[in-house]
Amino acid sequence: MTGPGRLQVAVLISGTGSNLKALIDAMQSGRLDVDIVRVISNRAEARGLDHARAAGIPVNVFGGKGETLDSAIGDCLEATGPDLVVLAGYMRILGPRLVRRFSGRVINLHPSLLPKYPGLDTYRRALEAGDREHGSSMHFVTAGLDDGPLIAQARIPVHPGDDAASLAARLGPVEHRLIVATVELFTRHRVEMVPGGVMLDGQRMARPLTLNDDNRLE
Ligand code: GRF
Repeated sequence: MTGPGRLQVAVLISGTGSNLKALIDAMQSGRLDVDIVRVISNRAEARGLDHARAAGIPVNVFGGKGETLDSAIGDCLEATGPDLVVLAGYMRILGPRLVRRFSGRVINLHPSLLPKYPGLDTYRRALEAGDREHGSSMHFVTAGLDDGPLIAQARIPVHPGDDAASLAARLGPVEHRLIVATVELFTRHRVEMVPGGVMLDGQRMARPLTLNDDNRLE
C-alpha cells in the first residue's frame, strides 16, 4: 500500500471513525494518493480502530489526558513522521506544545460553519439560532479551540422539522466528501499554513473553499 511520493498521513480518532473509513476507502480505491500510516485513538473502544485494523493500518491507543496524553501522541507521531495529521472525530483538545511540535501539519474536521459554533453541540446551537444552513469545516489546528485558519467548508440546508439527529445524519456523508477533498489538496501540495492564514496555489486565500456537488473544492 505504501509508495514513494505519496502523502504519509496519520489520523487521530476517538469514536465511530466514519471519516477515517472515508479516507481509507479513498486510499484503497486510488482516489487519494496517500498512505495512512498510523491511526491513533485516546479510547481503546473507539469503533474506528476496527476500520484501521481491517485495512492493516498500525494503531496506537494512548490513555490519560492533558500533557501526558499529548506527549505520548507527539512521540508516536514523531516516530511515524507523517506529512499530515488529520483529526477526524478526535475529541480531545491538543495542547499548545503538541500543536507547536506539528505546526502547519495538523488539520481538523469540525461540524459547523466556523467561526460559528466552535466546541461541542454544534447542531443544537445552529438549530436554536434559527440558522437556515449548517455545515462542516476543515481547518489548520492552532492553539485556540477550533479557530485555526480555515481551508474548506461544506454546507447543507436546515430543513423545517430538523432536529440535531436529523441534521447530523444528513451532514455525515457530506463530511466524508469534504475530508477526502481537503486531504487531496495536500496530496497535490496546494495548501500551506502561513502566519495569519492559508496559501492556496501560492496565493493567500481570501475565504475558505466550498465543496460543490462534484466533490470539487472551489
Ligand atoms: C464528525 O462529525 C466530525 O465533524 C466531528 O466528529 C465527528 C466524527 O465522526 N469532529 P466519525 O467518528 O468520523 O464518524
